Amino acid sequence: MRNKIVAGNWKMHKTAVETKQLLNELIDKLPNDVEAQIIVAPTFVNLSLAINVLENSNIAVAAQNMHQAEAGAFTGEISASMLTNIGVQTVILGHSERRAYFHETDALLAEKVNTALKHDMNVIFCFGEELKDRQDNQHFNVVENQLRDGLFHIENNAWEKIILAYEPVWAIGTGETATPEQAQEMHEFIRETIRKHYGSDIAEDVSILYGGSVKPDNAKEIFSKPDVDGGLIGGAALKAEDFSKIVEGIR
Ligand code: PGA
Repeated sequence: MRNKIVAGNWKMHKTAVETKQLLNELIDKLPNDVEAQIIVAPTFVNLSLAINVLENSNIAVAAQNMHQAEAGAFTGEISASMLTNIGVQTVILGHSERRAYFHETDALLAEKVNTALKHDMNVIFCFGEELKDRQDNQHFNVVENQLRDGLFHIENNAWEKIILAYEPVWAIGTGETATPEQAQEMHEFIRETIRKHYGSDIAEDVSILYGGSVKPDNAKEIFSKPDVDGGLIGGAALKAEDFSKIVEGIR
């Protein structure tokens, strides 16, 4: 089912005290008459806290990553069942920072996707080209390859658990946003690529979020594009007022 979604990726920000404060501000400030699913992704150590604070709200909690194995000698890692056991049903996989700084490959991400699906989790699957790819006019190829190698092995019925997040790397944390037209052009291409592999029903049903320097003053225009179903927000998700204004933009 194609939903409008606004998700906040908090990255490595906010202590427990700050997490609680921001969540309470979000409960107060977020408009509750907007038909969009709201998700926040605090860091691992604050997920339980977030689940508790948000218990009676309609804000969902996602993890920013997880390991592909069920359990084992993987010092410092977190498994799917550790997440679902505390009530986390959604995980962000393939964020460009995971790909760039932690060397996550498409093949590894395909494994992580399988593990998440096995645990009946929702996956926010991130992908997007680097600046050089766009300059070389390779951005469509890069995106198609990332989808094919990380995701296109899944069964048709698994698509109901998938949310896509197109995040051009050159727009993440840089203040440089794709224009609404660039976002729409790529989102349309993504939907078309899914249509080719999986058919129209799945292509029409999947939510495709845009991420990369979405701010209160540009969200509305980006979200107004027909193939943009919402956003994955980094920096601007760390301030309740900004995030709320972004959510307003999805009306
Ligand atoms: P940004 O990050 O909004 O700070 O550019 C987006 C993301 O990394 O998901």
